Amino acid sequence: MIRSQDALHAPYGGVVPELAARAHLQTLVPVIERALDSAGSRWEQIDGIAVTRGPGLIGCLLVGVNVGQSIGWARGLPVIGVSHLAAHVFAGQFEDVNLRPPVLGLVVSGGHSDLIRWQPDGSIDVVGRTRDDAAGEAFDKGARILGLPFPGGPAIDRLAQQGDPRAFKFPRPRAPGFDFSFSGVKTALLYEVRKHRELSEPTRADLAASYQEAIVDALLQRVEAAQASEPAPVIVVGGGVARNRRLREAAAERLGPLARVIIPAPELCTDNAAMIGAAALVEWDRRGPDPAPFDADPGLGFG
Ligand code: KG4
Ligand code: ZN
Repeated sequence: MIRSQDALHAPYGGVVPELAARAHLQTLVPVIERALDSAGSRWEQIDGIAVTRGPGLIGCLLVGVNVGQSIGWARGLPVIGVSHLAAHVFAGQFEDVNLRPPVLGLVVSGGHSDLIRWQPDGSIDVVGRTRDDAAGEAFDKGARILGLPFPGGPAIDRLAQQGDPRAFKFPRPRAPGFDFSFSGVKTALLYEVRKHRELSEPTRADLAASYQEAIVDALLQRVEAAQASEPAPVIVVGGGVARNRRLREAAAERLGPLARVIIPAPELCTDNAAMIGAAALVEWDRRGPDPAPFDADPGLGFG
């Protein structure tokens, strides 16, 4: 059961936080009811409530946590707050139910580009992050520069299919350690576009393909470096940008020889509640079910 807000935000060319929070308020309860219905489930079969505690837009998080806490309180169920970023890695469980740490995770979304290590003790370490734009943000801003519609990632992905990734040479961002940086490549695209008085369709496609190639190459280069410094048997690539066809193909090609590579099905890469449930199960396994029917502080601090 998917309720997308894309059409709501499209006229603004990006997510409007206030509108997003209001839409959550309107749709959350009906979506939960319809999801239960379509799964043929009853409330009596539910053992706990999983809810995203962060990171994300604060208005949306507040709505989600309040709904989760309220249901937990009303039905006497434990509420498990989970990290949305870790959940993108745990979504790998839908490809392999026995997925266990150590796992190296690349989480690429609209707000984050993180390299994560899911450690054998169950903890999550962020070993690399973006210094400026996230990979998804780079796709979205790049799309706007190219005159493509929101959401920009899928638009670039589509157009790039018809372009030549070697037509333009965009810089591969260099940040220290395993960190990412995408503002340079975005600026390079802007300067390149400004050189053309009008973009022909083939040139626009070449720009999209070359820009996408630069982002994908920069992402994978960092994963390769992290893997070389501390090899993990499994690498999971998740987050909305992991829907990108070129990233999926190149990740399998380049990372395949280094580890078992898991890239969840595209619909499980974009933000989804299934992965939040999967993440809560991991927490549940680690900490055991909450003995109190409702915990006043179920670890829901935002962050
Ligand atoms: O994980 P996600 O659904 O939400 C956040 O947590 O941000 O990621 C959304 C991001 C957006 O920036 C969107 O443009 C990008 O994922 N995205 C893509 C593709 N599909 C979604 N980027 C590149 N190629 C795609 N096919
Ligand atoms: Zn996400």
